Amino acid sequence: MTCLRVRGQTRLTGTVSVGGSKYSALSIIPAALLADTPSTIENVPDISDVAVFAEILRQLGAKVEYTRQGWMTIDPSGLNSWVADQLLVKRMRASYYLLGVLLARFGKAEVALPGGDDIGPRPIDQHLKGFRALGAEASIEHGLVKVQADRLAGNHSIYLDVLTVGATINLMLASVLKEGTTIISNAYRGPFIVDLANFLNAMGARVLGAGTETIRIQGVPKLHGCRHAIISDQSEAATLMVAAAMTRGDVTLLNTIPDHLESIIAKLQEAGVTIDQCEDKIRVRCDRRVSAVNVKTLPLPGFFTDFQAPMSALLTTADGISMVTETIWDERFEHLNQLVRMGAQVRIDGRTAIIQGVPYLTGAEVHGTDLRASAALLIAAMAARGESIVTGFEHADRGYERLDEKFRSLGAQIERLP
Ligand code: EPU
Repeated sequence: MTCLRVRGQTRLTGTVSVGGSKYSALSIIPAALLADTPSTIENVPDISDVAVFAEILRQLGAKVEYTRQGWMTIDPSGLNSWVADQLLVKRMRASYYLLGVLLARFGKAEVALPGGDDIGPRPIDQHLKGFRALGAEASIEHGLVKVQADRLAGNHSIYLDVLTVGATINLMLASVLKEGTTIISNAYRGPFIVDLANFLNAMGARVLGAGTETIRIQGVPKLHGCRHAIISDQSEAATLMVAAAMTRGDVTLLNTIPDHLESIIAKLQEAGVTIDQCEDKIRVRCDRRVSAVNVKTLPLPGFFTDFQAPMSALLTTADGISMVTETIWDERFEHLNQLVRMGAQVRIDGRTAIIQGVPYLTGAEVHGTDLRASAALLIAAMAARGESIVTGFEHADRGYERLDEKFRSLGAQIERLP
């Protein structure tokens, strides 16, 4: 377990650069296996999920190397297995993208049910429904997901019953090498979906409409390696913005894409935070207690569920009562239960949290149970009066690139405990 000791009441000031998108990286890294020749991916975030994925690819026979900081080269020419390492697969969620990739490459795949954050039920029925619609057999046996098709060919239309990041990506990956046209309707609309489509198209694929609710894929017989730079991470940017606001700081974020942050910018402004944008820079300033606001998570481009934990942590010290409704995940309020230890006043009623803001939080020992929860607790600890211990920070390391180090560079007093 990774623990942090945090001295509170620090005001974050300065400039910090946002890393590459976790979701882009975790779909583009397996997608590189669809080509015959090596790809170079730039701006790869230095997070533990990426390291685990690199190891899974190596075990499948691919060569994965870091050529310089943030640059990864993947040579798929030695790919020789359609069975992924079970233990590694269970350490992360995105490992299930190997189902789509290996199905496309070998006509079959065996991948254990994936791991990932414990934030309520995480079914994969839409992935399986999609594979079946493409003509494959798909089943779950003894904890293993098995997909198989004698030949993937023909024109297919898949309507997804729910807006899902994972199934949209998996079906894109499974379809690019298939003979014929695939139409994915009610597809997820997110910048990382567009980033993946751009990567696939740079490898020679024909993917149209990514970023809208209808994605049309015209299969091609083969793909070649390419060079691609990953977009910046919107969830990390949102987390840094909230941290600046909660610590009443003045922070400039570099390497952002403000269009991907519209919902968090709007909510922070509604709460009284000053935000200035210029090209890829966003400056966040706050010199007073924020006002209460209501938040409801939605699929992108709505208020992203991954922004909810940091935002609701901020609202525990807002002036007034805020209502936060989480519509995507059943159990994504554990950080609020932990914040009660720091003096937050919160009542959780199903998928809605009613937060009565208090003037300040006080340091305590709190435990992060998932990626965004751990980051939210660290932000609260930096703002609180007194010292806090945040345990479970390994969850944050899975998806944030050296978050504690970035906060230290802005003046935070955080120590990693052995
Ligand atoms: N869903 C289904 N059936 C499916 C797939 C999804 O009912 O087959 C439901 C889910 O239960 C959920 C909703 O659809 O209610 C959205 O699920 P989605 O497939 O979008 O989630 P995911 O792909 O498993 C990714 C991120 C999550 C992020 C969600 C936002 C990865 C590795 N994870 O999860 O990120 O919250 O999209 O929809 O890409 C995080 O990084 O903090 C994190 C948990």
